[in-house]
Amino acid sequence: MTKTIQAVRGMNDVLPQDSARWQFFFEKAREWLDRYGYREIRLPLLEKTELFSRSIGRTSDIVSKEMYTFEDQLSGESLTLRPEGTASCVRAALEHNLLYDSAQRLFYEGPMFRHERPQKGRYRQFHQIGVEALGFAGPDVDAEHIVMCASLWETLKLPKLTLQLNSLGSSEARGRYRQKLVAHLVANFSRLDADSRHRLEVNPLRVLDSKNPQLAEVIAAAPTLIDELDDESREHFAGVCALVSDCGIEFEINPRLVRGLDYYNRTVFEWVSSDLGAQGTVCAGGRYDGLISELGGRPAPACGFALGIERVLALMPVNKPGSLDVYLAHHGENAGRYAFKVAEALRDAGISVVFDASGSSFKSQMKKADASGARFAVLVGEEETRERRASLKPLREAGEQIAGPVETIIALIKGA
Ligand code: HAM
Repeated sequence: MTKTIQAVRGMNDVLPQDSARWQFFFEKAREWLDRYGYREIRLPLLEKTELFSRSIGRTSDIVSKEMYTFEDQLSGESLTLRPEGTASCVRAALEHNLLYDSAQRLFYEGPMFRHERPQKGRYRQFHQIGVEALGFAGPDVDAEHIVMCASLWETLKLPKLTLQLNSLGSSEARGRYRQKLVAHLVANFSRLDADSRHRLEVNPLRVLDSKNPQLAEVIAAAPTLIDELDDESREHFAGVCALVSDCGIEFEINPRLVRGLDYYNRTVFEWVSSDLGAQGTVCAGGRYDGLISELGGRPAPACGFALGIERVLALMPVNKPGSLDVYLAHHGENAGRYAFKVAEALRDAGISVVFDASGSSFKSQMKKADASGARFAVLVGEEETRERRASLKPLREAGEQIAGPVETIIALIKGA
């Protein structure tokens, strides 16, 4: 027998029994984005590699080891499957001059690709909704992002998430801090693992992100960036915290929160769940005031965040019931032909119908009707065919089987 072909590791199918959850999520998410005035931008999955190395940072884990990069066979250009959406969103805004006369509130959704070691909650193709506010300087937009996340968690009835906040300050403040941190790490060099020694060389702030428990003490004793903040960043951060508190949202200030992408400054935040094991960060983002000019635009402030859809879905308690209205079963000589037309008449009236195409016995069709999750079975036998009628049988609650003209059946289903 020919060997079957499996999906690429870390890239998942969403099977029909699970897609209702995705649909429910997107329905709620789109209403939510509308409520906050964010408009959709649709971006390509492939970009020039340089876009990501310039924005996310050459020494970041994502760019240095996680990107799906290849050379275009015709043009010889280096291309990359997008590992995130912020860089593409800014690229598109600049390319189409969207920031010429107004700031922009934008969102995008879709798959992202990172060559990480797959485990529960961490995939090589995963999905995000990303939200970006381009051209806004004040702390109110940072706070808007945090508050809108809290609103979505409530709509989706997620179990409690913890909000962690930090400020990375200006690049000058980070420069000052980097020197102090390096001095501390060098003094503790013998206690660092190989990965942290490498990070110390290329991007010392990322040592704070290490999950190795052996390093916890060294990290806990490290100087904190928040003590080095410049006055403007300190004021900005106080503004964000005040607005978030005013909305009754609790948070922790985590001075070790640095994020793995280089474009951030000032506010950074993460929403973390304790129900997801090691991959507990459901949503993350912050301010990136330098990125627009880094990518060739006139300097403009910006901030944003992205949520990992697989992680949100893993926390969502609701299992949306199937939305099928009718399973149409039929038996008898000419019944199939008449039933086929009845199914179309129901659909024309806005009712969803699965027509039995199994050719099996009536009894087995009724079993299929039950398993389909439909609210009703509509039955067409020889008698119904002769009299140009149909019978309606409720499947999910008690109730008599009722026969009548198709218009009556439609009215009963719509009234139920
Ligand atoms: P990020 O922290 O790299 O940020 O990713 C955001 C979220 O995507 C994570 O919190 C997580 O929920 C999800 N995620 C990331 N990697 C994986 C994975 N391998 N498998 C499953 N889920 C994953 C960004 O991507 C930034 N672009 C966010 C942003 C937007 N900052 C400003 N604007």
